Amino acid sequence: MGDVEHIPKELKLIDESGVRLDGRRYDELRPIRIEAGVLKKADGSAYIEWGNNKVLAAVYGPREAHPRHLQDPAKALVQCRYNMAPFSVTERKRPGPDRRSVEISKVISEAFASVVFVEQFPRTSVDIFIEVLQADAGTRCAGLTAASVALADAGIPMRDLVTSCASGKIGGVVALDLNKDEDNFGEADCPMAIVPRTGEIVLLQMDGHLTVDEFERAMDLSIVATKGIYELQRDALRRRYSAMAEQAMEAPPPPPIPSELPPPPDMPEDELPEVDDL
Ligand code: CDP
Repeated sequence: MGDVEHIPKELKLIDESGVRLDGRRYDELRPIRIEAGVLKKADGSAYIEWGNNKVLAAVYGPREAHPRHLQDPAKALVQCRYNMAPFSVTERKRPGPDRRSVEISKVISEAFASVVFVEQFPRTSVDIFIEVLQADAGTRCAGLTAASVALADAGIPMRDLVTSCASGKIGGVVALDLNKDEDNFGEADCPMAIVPRTGEIVLLQMDGHLTVDEFERAMDLSIVATKGIYELQRDALRRRYSAMAEQAMEAPPPPPIPSELPPPPDMPEDELPEVDDL
């Protein structure tokens, strides 16, 4: 709790004029930057900075599922591993999986399993790795948003990208995209993920309490915000592919294909095999 001791007990997360501690209004996102194709060894990858969150996502597959008994003869498995680095938070996090990371890995796997064309790749696995390098609340949304770009970068056929965002309640006000202090001292946080093209919700969680009306307002805030985040995802992919196209243009041209094949070398007649020998 070292990082929250500086916060006075009577702290107002949002003031009378609707300004939050970090200067945002109730409906403002933290700054987001996404880069696609940042890792050479993975089939697809992406890096996201979302406020003070820094998250890497890597994707492999579809590749043969291991262990074999997990293979599904009808479809691919979508397996996500969300992990927080020990240095990602103020108090060193104990390395390895815990209940929270197992839960986040599960809900993210399920969100992607509903958009990847899994029936096209029986017996395989699509493996998604999300590594949180720096955490400041909203890491599952940041990880999911980056992993979606990494899946597209890997060329995995999907119905659409998945875009994620959270809204919650701070000081009695429904607000978009809570940071760590707001998450700690606010009343509720509600992360969601959407398939922007269809409007389908593929992840929805709630920590704390919201009335039905507050929940609807929180969802409206998140849905509007995901439209902008979706554009950032698409823009990262566009930049990635224009860079690849430029590299391909700069590569030396392949040697010309000879218009006529060279004549076969002469072979003495006595060395030609007899038909019976063949
Ligand atoms: O990160 P997200 O909001 O998706 O998940 P959370 O469980 O609501 O966690 C909120 C924040 O608490 C994280 O982003 C971290 O900043 C912090 N946290 C931490 O400091 N130590 C942990 N072991 C887990 C979370």
